[in-house]
Amino acid sequence: MDAPRAPSDPDAPYETLTVAADPRAPREDRLAGPAAALRDGGLVAFPTETVYGLGADAFSETAVAAVFAAKGRPADNPLIVHVADVEAVDALAAEVTPLARTLLDAFAPGPLTLVLRKSPRIPAIVTAGLDTVAIRVPSHPVARALIRLAGVPVAAPSANRSGRPSPTRAEHVLEDLDGRIPWLVDGGPCDVGLESTVVDATGDVPVILRPGAVTAEHLRMATGLDPVEGYLHPASPAPHGDAPGAPFAAAPRSPGLKYRHYAPRARVLVADGPDDDARADRTLALAAEAIADGRRVGILAAHDTLLSLSCPLVASAVPRGKVVLSVDWGRAGDALAASAMLFDALRRLDEAGAEVIVVQSVEPAGIGTAFRNRLEKAAGGRGETDGEEEGP
Ligand code: TXA
Ligand code: MG
Repeated sequence: MDAPRAPSDPDAPYETLTVAADPRAPREDRLAGPAAALRDGGLVAFPTETVYGLGADAFSETAVAAVFAAKGRPADNPLIVHVADVEAVDALAAEVTPLARTLLDAFAPGPLTLVLRKSPRIPAIVTAGLDTVAIRVPSHPVARALIRLAGVPVAAPSANRSGRPSPTRAEHVLEDLDGRIPWLVDGGPCDVGLESTVVDATGDVPVILRPGAVTAEHLRMATGLDPVEGYLHPASPAPHGDAPGAPFAAAPRSPGLKYRHYAPRARVLVADGPDDDARADRTLALAAEAIADGRRVGILAAHDTLLSLSCPLVASAVPRGKVVLSVDWGRAGDALAASAMLFDALRRLDEAGAEVIVVQSVEPAGIGTAFRNRLEKAAGGRGETDGEEEGP
């Protein structure tokens, strides 16, 4: 395969080359070009079971610097290092704790990232100067084949421009990074649709730094311990300060938590309530208010909620003609389906020209916790109070 050309536009120096790969059984010859590029210090966007990542050789400072540049990512937000097999974790961490072993046995490969004390082999730029490194073994066959072929650990944040929703389809990657990266491997839509659960496993007790598809309940079952929900306290001190021996005195935080994330251009309103019926009612009420204010409204909601737009009473307050786009996430209560659709829907609703996007929320349990976390951020998590914003 030809090497990508490098034309002159400084903002889009590449002719991004897209390679399609079978998500279940990728052919190695299709991945040879992008794998060689990774090995040579190039950037490759690729699918994982959570979201698309933007990969670079984790041992190459210049390659990793190019990831930060392509995304417009602040240098103090560290990257996750991806490896193809559980055995490869040991070479990247100074210490794989008994807790980490338990979690790897239970959940790797899969949508879980472990924060461990870093090996000196990992350049400081990857970890933003922290003495810990985030490591993940993705389960997506394309990701694993690509990393294995490249023969290097792959540092990869989500493949979006900084501040945009994470990409769950190859098209999303192109929306944000076309011309800014040489290679994209298209493996179709991502199954989970939300980023991995990040767990600090440096101590005895799992500390959830970012909720995801591996839930607090899963961690409890695997370890017999109650995980600490570190993401609820983003303003508390960093976990690995100068005080040895007291890493969990305060709730740790993940550097990424302080940034605004997942933000579409439109204003996002969260339709919350104690149960599915209440959340459906709230969705319609918020849409009605926004329409009364003369706003172009988009809706992401459960199937039944959108069906009720046909009943005359609802239709008088929320006329279909005033809704620029409505996206159906399936059965109310199906947080897994809602999660898989969230980021794609936010992008589509934005594109449709919505000024206000009303999103029906889900039960705060299981993956619903992660859905609500990302939705809150989309709705206005800003600066240091990120994640603590009001709902509607
Ligand atoms: O599902 C995912 O995790 C995707 C796919 C591509 O694997 N990746 C992803 O990466 O979401 P990114 O860079 O968008 O998010 C990484 C998160 C950030 O919140 C970052 O602050 C945190 O992990 N993180 C990375 N290294 C850390 C460390 N040493 N200590 C604490 N948090 C860390
Ligand atoms: Mg990200």
